[in-house]
This record gives sequence, structure tokens and C-alpha cells, in this order.
Amino acid sequence: MDNRVIIGGQWGDEGKGKIVDALSDKVDWVLRYQGGANAGHTIKVADEEFVLHLVPSGIFQPEVRCYLGNGMVIDPWSLRDEISALEQRGIRVRDRLFVSSAAQLLMPYHRRFDELKENKLRRKSIGTTGRGIGPAYLDKFQRTGLRLGDLLRAPETLERTAIEKTLAANEILSDFFDAEPLSARTIAEELVDLAEGLRPLIVSGYELLRGVRERTESALFEGAQGTLLDIDHGTYPYVTSSNSTVGGALTGTGLPPRCLGDVVGIFKAYCTRVGNGPFPTELLADDGDLLRKLGGEYGATTGRARRCGWFDLLAGRYAVSVNGMSGIIVTKLDVLDRIETVKVATTYQIDDERVDLYPVRGELLARCRPQYREFAGWERPTTDCRSLTDLPAAARKYLEFLEQELGALIVGVSVGKRRDQMIWTDTGVTT
Ligand code: GDP
Ligand code: IMO
Ligand code: MG
Repeated sequence: MDNRVIIGGQWGDEGKGKIVDALSDKVDWVLRYQGGANAGHTIKVADEEFVLHLVPSGIFQPEVRCYLGNGMVIDPWSLRDEISALEQRGIRVRDRLFVSSAAQLLMPYHRRFDELKENKLRRKSIGTTGRGIGPAYLDKFQRTGLRLGDLLRAPETLERTAIEKTLAANEILSDFFDAEPLSARTIAEELVDLAEGLRPLIVSGYELLRGVRERTESALFEGAQGTLLDIDHGTYPYVTSSNSTVGGALTGTGLPPRCLGDVVGIFKAYCTRVGNGPFPTELLADDGDLLRKLGGEYGATTGRARRCGWFDLLAGRYAVSVNGMSGIIVTKLDVLDRIETVKVATTYQIDDERVDLYPVRGELLARCRPQYREFAGWERPTTDCRSLTDLPAAARKYLEFLEQELGALIVGVSVGKRRDQMIWTDTGVTT
């Protein structure tokens, strides 16, 4: 049984997609359990690059079956487009991808609300991906949302329901946002069309995942976003609207805890964040630009420049303990190959006080000044390293420090975009 939960240890974009792809040949299932098309998971297969938003990163392993769980918010327009784009590029999707009938339907008015709400907040905006995520979860928890299962209803019923929901949304658009209404009829007709194509994918997760529950089939749980974007445990309100920490894997699939297996955290060898909110180790101006350039740090979903900074041990330890990570994988080590001095935040200072425990309250975090430990860079390429002993001594020293200070074994190190650019280690990196 190779079950594992793959969780972002930082603010997302840690390279979860690459790792899930690299591990998915060992499992029967890859399961997404939260978020929606706000995720952007980039996978390089041979020389081809794919960006996935909804479809799980296991799709490139032909024998693996993929599942979108009840914890997700799914835009059926995006899902249809993503499936056809993959199929056009020769990836078989249709009989391998399943969607929970209990997942929420993300509708065009959710996107519109997201955009208008962000505009209204102006300087205080969250910097969302604009994919309608917050408004769709709002409908879920208000108990006014539609679910994927609604696409299985008779076309007339679905059409009527979609019209009613869009007309209700139009009232909010005009009363609250002073915005133009959406065409309820067009949306309803398109949805009826989409339902036709998506119907064969919609299933009862309870039935479909029986093998995983009974442990005759194995599963990899693919987290989206990252620990610090979690609605409860992240840097609220600058977070996403779902549980990207480990609890999301349970509620978002309906599987019991014993099915999860090991919790594996993915951390970049440095740190990035897209959107607004506190980021203590952020590098501004030229220093930030250098990391951004070396790491190609532009959002896979929105193309926005990612904010870049040094590895933050306090935030990292927080992620390890909140999720109970037993192992971690450090990605993008190669991005630091040309850096002269690599820094890691080891403590924070708030006014004159030393802080060793990650402050969960955003306003405190915004006042933290990180104190750094410096490491001599290795200034040698690592992209061809396939074992720890291939790595330059200075790179190993850096990894050993992270492993010891985070209190979790480094079970993998990624040194490039490709599947094979990995160093695997069962026993950690510390000798
Ligand atoms: P995710 O959202 O966590 O799946 O991460 P993204 O795909 O949004 O961002 C990670 C980016 O880094 C992608 O462009 C990957 O192709 C790339 N990447 C992943 N691992 C490595 C690595 O070890 N080295 C380098 N240079 N790039 C990597
Ligand atoms: P992956 O899975 C990085 C960020 C947005 C914004 C906040 C809320 O690729 O790691 P939302 O649209 O979710 O309401 O935006 O969360 N965000 C991400 N940042 N990677 C992601 O996903 C993200 N998904 C959302 O930038 O700050
Ligand atoms: Mg991403």
C-alpha cells in the first residue's frame, strides 16, 4: 500500500504536480479533494509541458484512475475544456476520470462575484485567482449551491434550476454590486449541453472508492494550494476558501483516516507567494527579481509574478506539525545553484522580542522581522544529480539543516522540472 497525502508546505506552487506525477505510477488512484481551478499544477512529461487546474496530476500514468472529490468546487466549463485540451494532446482522460456527485458546481456568476468583490476591496483585496472559488464555497456553506449530481437530472429540471439560481445571482449583481445581469437562459442552455458530456464521469464516491476504503486499492491524495493558504490554519483572510491542510483529504473524499497513509509535505528550497498577505521572508527589488527569474516564478493559473523570498523555518515547522508530516520533499533546489549566499529564516523579531513559534495571527506576522542564518552557496549545477552523494557538499549541508530544523525526514529532492530529475532517499539526508 503506497497511500500518501501530498500537501503544500508553503503558499502553494511548491511543485506538488511534479511530485504527484512522479509518484503516481505506484498507485491505483490519484484523488483531488479540495479547491478548484485556482490550482495550477505544471507537469513536464518528456519534453512536453502540461498545466492542470482540475484534472489530477496522475493522468499522465495511463493505468491510474483519477477522481475529483466532494470537497472540490468544479467549474464544468473549465473541466470540459481541460479534458478536451488533454485529449487533443493524446492523453486518454474519459474512462479514467471520475467526479463526485457531491462536489459543488462552480457557476459563471461565482467568477463574476469573485471579480467584483476583489474590485470592491481595492487595496485590501486578497489577490484571488479570479476563478470564483470563494463565492462557490460560500454557496456551499450557505446551502444554496448546485452540485455535480444536479447535472444528472432531467434536462428541463436542470435548465429550470440553473435559470432560478442565475436570476437569484443577478439580484445580488444589481443590488449589491450595481453590475449588469448575466444571461440566465444562455447559462442554463450551456449547462444542459455540458451535462450531456460530463454525465458519464459523475459517480458516487462512496461506491467508486470502495476499494480504497477496504484497502484493496491504493491512492495518492493530491493537495492543492498550501498550508499557509488554508482557510482555518493559513494567513487569514489572505487565504483560499478550503482546507488545504490534511483534514481536507478526509472531508473532501469521505474516506476514513486509516486510508491516508503518510503525510508528505512539499517545500520549495526557498519560498514564493502569489496574491496579497504577509510574507516575512519576502525579497524585494533586485533580490526578488533574481529568484523569480531563476525559478521561472510566474503563476500557472494567472501568469502573475510570484513574490519570492527565503525559506522560512518557523512557517515550515508550523506546516510540518499542523499536518503531521512524516516526510518532506524539497523541490527546485537547482534554482539556488547560482546563488552565492543562501539564507534561511530561523527566528523572527517583533519589536524587541524574539519569536520562535510561528504567529498564526496575520497582523502579528506582518510585523515580524526575520533573523537569518546564511549558507555558502554551492554554485554548481545540481540538475543531473540523482543521489545525495552526487550533490555538492554545500547543498547537502543546506538540506541537512532543513531536515534537522523541520523535524521531518527529507524523502526526496527535486532538481529540475522533469519526472526523472529527482533524488529519492528513504532515510533522510542527514548522515
Ligand atoms: P504546484 O502548484 O505545487 O503543482 O506547482 P506549480 O506547477 O504551480 O509550480 C511549480 C513550477 O516549478 C512548475 O513550473 C514546475 O514545472 C517547476 N518545478 C517543479 N519542480 C522543479 C524543480 O525541482 N526544479 C525546477 N527548476 N523547476 C521545478
Ligand atoms: P496551487 O495548487 C498559489 C492564492 C491566490 C490568492 C489566494 C486566494 O497551484 O499551489 P482563490 O482564487 O483561491 O480565492 O485565491 O490563494 N492561491 C494560490 N496560490 N498556488 C495555488 O494553487 C493557489 N490557489 C490559490 O493567489 O492569494
Ligand atoms: Mg501551482
